[in-house]
Amino acid sequence: MIKIIGLRKYFRVGFLRKKTWILKGINLNVNPGDIFALLGPNGAGKTTLLLCLVGLLKVNEGVLKIFDKDNNDLSVFSRISYLPELPTIPTHLNAIEFLTISAGLNNLNISRKEILSWLERVNLQNDLKKRIKKYSKGMVQRLAIVNAFIKDCDIYFLDEPILGLDPLGIKLIRDLIVEKNKEGKTIFLNSHILSEVEKTASRISVMNEGKIVLEKTVDELKGEFLYLKYKNLNEGEYKKLKKKFPNCKRDEDQLILPAVKENEIPEIIRTASKFIDIYEVKLEKESIESIFINHIGNKQ
Ligand SMILES: Nc1ncnc2c1ncn2[C@@H]1O[C@H](COP(=O)(O)OP(=O)(O)O)[C@@H](O)[C@H]1O
Ligand SMILES: [Mg+2]
Repeated sequence: MIKIIGLRKYFRVGFLRKKTWILKGINLNVNPGDIFALLGPNGAGKTTLLLCLVGLLKVNEGVLKIFDKDNNDLSVFSRISYLPELPTIPTHLNAIEFLTISAGLNNLNISRKEILSWLERVNLQNDLKKRIKKYSKGMVQRLAIVNAFIKDCDIYFLDEPILGLDPLGIKLIRDLIVEKNKEGKTIFLNSHILSEVEKTASRISVMNEGKIVLEKTVDELKGEFLYLKYKNLNEGEYKKLKKKFPNCKRDEDQLILPAVKENEIPEIIRTASKFIDIYEVKLEKESIESIFINHIGNKQ
């Protein structure tokens, strides 16, 4: 559905307008029905990639296809929707005026009743008369989210959708994403907030300094890790454990064994107990936070 091959993009930066490569050869595939999350620290290049995808920035090299067409093919625009990272909304309007004009500009046939029900959905129903300039940051974000989701289309591109939202607002957007996805829509979202992505994403890619450094599929995200808590572990014991479990890692006071199957657990515990006193055993999915820190944290 989205195919990116060898995409490179530079900006000219500074007084000397020096060529600076921001996207350094991106390869990505997004399939229909994915909730695809692009994670990465600030400045990684996520917004730049999204702007290229929705046709607002030109790429310098590489292939970028949506629905098997060039992404700036006119027929693509009617099938995608886009929530910018910092939505700019004319502040002298109220919410209904803004959504009516925006729908009109996008050639959408949306009734006042539908607009009102969307505003209710994001809890803005008591602020219908208020001009947008009097809105808080979170209220503007909710309105921008409605503006993105009111369009019925195939792919929703969302750049940092929960920026500025309170927990209730975050739940609203999460529910909307899941609901649209159940209708068969594809979601492509950028985020640097990991805990949020964990709840919705079916696939993640991690971007750092203009490159994809890690990709995880649904099944890999479901892979479980066994955590064995100990109090003391000397180097000799750790070496012996490493011989038995070559994939194991140490993390402060626990031993972490990746991709463990349930029927292997008793034997692992029996073997590990020969070397360490185990105080706690946990079987958990690897958190996106630890994936992120393992792949980005120590490289910065
Ligand atoms: N228009 C631009 N001109 C020059 N540099 C830019 C421009 N837009 C973004 N950049 C630079 O590109 C890098 C990636 O930015 P961005 O795509 O916004 O990252 P992210 O969304 O991951 O935080 C940053 O170093 C940023 O300063
Ligand atoms: Mg960004």
